[in-house]
Amino acid sequence: MDISVYTARRARLMERMGNGIAVIPTAPEQLRNRDNHHPYRPDSYFHYLTGFGEPESVLVLLAGKTPKSILFCRDKDVEKEVWNGFRWGPDTACQAFGCDEAYSIKCFDEKLAELLADQPALWFSIGQDPAWDARIAVALNAVRAQVRTGKQAPEEIHDVRATLDNMRLIKDRSEIATMRRAADISAAAHRRAMSAARPGRYEYEIEAELLHEFRNRGCQAPAYSSIVAGGANACILHYVANDQPLKAGELLLIDAGGELDNYAADITRTFPVSGRFSGPQADVYDLVLAAQTAAIAAIKPGASFTDPHDAALKVLVQGMLDLKLLQGSLDGLIESEAYKRFYMHRTSHWLGMDVHDAGAYKRGEKWRELAPGMVLTVEPGCYIRAATDVPTAFHDIGVRIEDDALVTASGCEIITEAAPKTRAEIEALMAERG
Ligand code: GLY
Ligand code: MN
Ligand code: MN
Repeated sequence: MDISVYTARRARLMERMGNGIAVIPTAPEQLRNRDNHHPYRPDSYFHYLTGFGEPESVLVLLAGKTPKSILFCRDKDVEKEVWNGFRWGPDTACQAFGCDEAYSIKCFDEKLAELLADQPALWFSIGQDPAWDARIAVALNAVRAQVRTGKQAPEEIHDVRATLDNMRLIKDRSEIATMRRAADISAAAHRRAMSAARPGRYEYEIEAELLHEFRNRGCQAPAYSSIVAGGANACILHYVANDQPLKAGELLLIDAGGELDNYAADITRTFPVSGRFSGPQADVYDLVLAAQTAAIAAIKPGASFTDPHDAALKVLVQGMLDLKLLQGSLDGLIESEAYKRFYMHRTSHWLGMDVHDAGAYKRGEKWRELAPGMVLTVEPGCYIRAATDVPTAFHDIGVRIEDDALVTASGCEIITEAAPKTRAEIEALMAERG
């Protein structure tokens, strides 16, 4: 573990704060049922700044002339470690994670009141967790109660996420390296799924192939619930039941990505269960691929966040006219948003530690400009539910193609391209299934 990455991020945040105190807690453990917990995942902001993975931890930063990082974490506990595994303890964690001071989490509330006193500003993620809001309010009131002894509570409160989101939006070298590996593993999972699909197998069996590849290659978990949607299920955007049999002649849409060391990949591929696209399936597939190609061509530094979406939309809506899914003029249909019947989501979102990653999409009225180091998805789709006013040949065809784009100095790099995408590539891979 290269601790200097985290030390540098903390230094950068404190520089941006100028002065004051930041309080950044990690995520609580979550019960799944009775005394059984969900697998633990630290809070993305906390992990971004510390690399520390234990629950019940808080990072406190003191910005100013002598910036200081203070970690609060669980004590060593030999008995609990027998049951639940290793704990760093404050002393060892302090050194290993490059902090200036570390204390037991048991002292946190008392220490926080001391640390808040006479700080001009508090930086905290207000509203993220009501329990934390209340805890902070108690500490602030404890300082205010000492006003007659000369102590002062911070007068300003800032949402620390605004500053951190801007930092997280531009991925650094170590983040890009991890995201490339998450993308490679996820692309391999999609190849495995294509090889495993055949009529009569169940959607959950294909999900199992994805999970095998994620875990077998080192991902800790899927980055989000895998969507394995055969036939008409592809027209349900967040279909996660994954419990139906795959049928010959239908398409299978898979939206799945692994999470590696807290970074997500997000890939969608759509392919024929039997290995060959029918004519109408090919028409819709090629349309979505052409839309994606146009969107990718629009990704470059200085372009607006919405440029890839607008480029994809023009191609998609023209295609909907050509396939007689819609009638009217290109501009009129875009203006009236009539296309939303077949394409109801946007083309991109930021990608990083969270699958829908941190970062504002607009600054005031203006869409954000793309810059090197940003990572966004490119995921146009076309979802055609059966209806009397829709040509029968296209009924229940749902196609989405999703890749992850890293903005570079001259354009973008698709980090998920190892997942087969053209019809020829997909059919060739599936022909090898035997
Ligand atoms: N897999 C979630 C998304 O594509 O946004
Ligand atoms: Mn996505
Ligand atoms: Mn996706």
